[in-house]
Amino acid sequence: MNICCIGAGYVGGPTMAMIARKCPDIRVTVVDINQERIDAWNSAELPVYEPGLDDVVLESRGRNLFFSTNVDDAIRAADVIFVSVNTPTKTYGVGAGRAADLRYLELCARRIAEVATGDKIVVEKSTLPVKTAESLKRVLHANSNGHHFEILSNPEFLAEGTAVADLENPDRVLIGGDDTPQGREAIAKLVSVYARWVPAERILTTNLWSSELTKLVSNALLAQRISSINSISALCEVTGADVSEVARAAGRDARIGPRFLNASVGFGGSCFQKDILNLVYLCEHYGLREVADYWESVVKINDWQKDRFVSRIIRTLFNTVAGKRIALLGFAFKKDTNDTRESAAIRVASALMDEKADIVIYDPKVTAVEVYRDLDYARGDQLAREAVQVVDDPYTALEGAHALAVLTEWDVFRELDYQRVFDKMKKPAFAFDGRNILDHQNLRKIGFEVHVIGKSPAL
Ligand SMILES: NC(=O)c1ccc[n+]([C@@H]2O[C@H](COP(=O)([O-])OP(=O)(O)OC[C@H]3O[C@@H](n4cnc5c(N)ncnc54)[C@H](O)[C@@H]3O)[C@@H](O)[C@H]2O)c1
Repeated sequence: MNICCIGAGYVGGPTMAMIARKCPDIRVTVVDINQERIDAWNSAELPVYEPGLDDVVLESRGRNLFFSTNVDDAIRAADVIFVSVNTPTKTYGVGAGRAADLRYLELCARRIAEVATGDKIVVEKSTLPVKTAESLKRVLHANSNGHHFEILSNPEFLAEGTAVADLENPDRVLIGGDDTPQGREAIAKLVSVYARWVPAERILTTNLWSSELTKLVSNALLAQRISSINSISALCEVTGADVSEVARAAGRDARIGPRFLNASVGFGGSCFQKDILNLVYLCEHYGLREVADYWESVVKINDWQKDRFVSRIIRTLFNTVAGKRIALLGFAFKKDTNDTRESAAIRVASALMDEKADIVIYDPKVTAVEVYRDLDYARGDQLAREAVQVVDDPYTALEGAHALAVLTEWDVFRELDYQRVFDKMKKPAFAFDGRNILDHQNLRKIGFEVHVIGKSPAL
């Protein structure tokens, strides 16, 4: 079998590397139009940081795993073509700010139809609105040159930061396809790939629409838990309850479970917000206003939480942060990834820029170029280079700071020498723990005034 994947991003790269590792007899080619990205996949410095990913890639690269910009040749040679291109929220025209932008996907479909010289199985790996396969089918078949294209949906459930472990040992693999002889045959073919390492009972097959919708629903349900506990964190702060205690006790109920109940400055990442907004758009499209409003509130609470965090910093620092050095620890949207898309840090840093704070940022995996790009893009101006300093050592960031704010739960932030940090900072020294990872008792003993989401300042 010969597999091609269009899109060498956070999903395409790791998923194909895992297939190549588990199936040494299958030739896997990952293609992208971004030359820089492909060069990086072929270098010692991979474009995606994920624990364990280097080993997986190195094991197969050059053997049965290839990265290339030659999209057409890869399409021609493949029996199975995964499409794993980006599907961001539309920023223009109808559905702007909500609907998924499917132009990259459609371009891929047109390219596949144009250059294919035989029948293909086309697999939607990107996260897509339900019924996208319908459009994909029409575009492919209208340009088919007599070839048959069978569409499958195989959404990816990996979480960044744990991608390798998730791919190695997935909770489930979902494959949707048509209930026709050709559809069933295509499903069986893809099942046979995953079955090399995933137990049969974890490979679920459904119709196309259920598979497409399941991905959106899964992300919406996960994000909803975070917004639920974050909404309660506000109530805890004013009542004297402690949100970690509430979450721990509530999560002990087997029906609720403990995961995704950690109150924080808010969720980020390229998927949760985008996929919920996409779900909201779909509900609106089908006239389900109440359902749309329900899910939209998950995103609203998330934005509110980030803004609340900034307000707390400003209020605590005597209602002004102008000219005050504030050290932001972390810029990635979560630990163990270099991905900053929709990171809570972007909104927090931008709001503090508006307040004329003197911001300094340290993140172990995010470069200064990325920080400036994200802030300029989010703000629509070019002020970040002036207002924000990005440093490559946490202690340098904290030198002379009035406050520190933890925005990403990197392990390294737990392990800092906080006595040394305290000695370097202006007094009173404030610590705002946006991820609830620090040893607050120890910090208070040293002399910090500590603020934690979901706890009143007295706790
Ligand atoms: N990042 C995640 O954790 C995650 C998890 C599950 C699902 N997803 C979904 O997977 C999809 C891809 O996400 P990602 O994070 O890998 O995105 P990404 O932006 O990291 O990668 C997408 C890649 O596709 C390439 N591309 C775009 N158009 C192309 C074309 N016409 N031909 C060739 N290459 C093209 C881009 O250059 C880019 O490198 C999205 O739909 C996303 O919602 C992402």
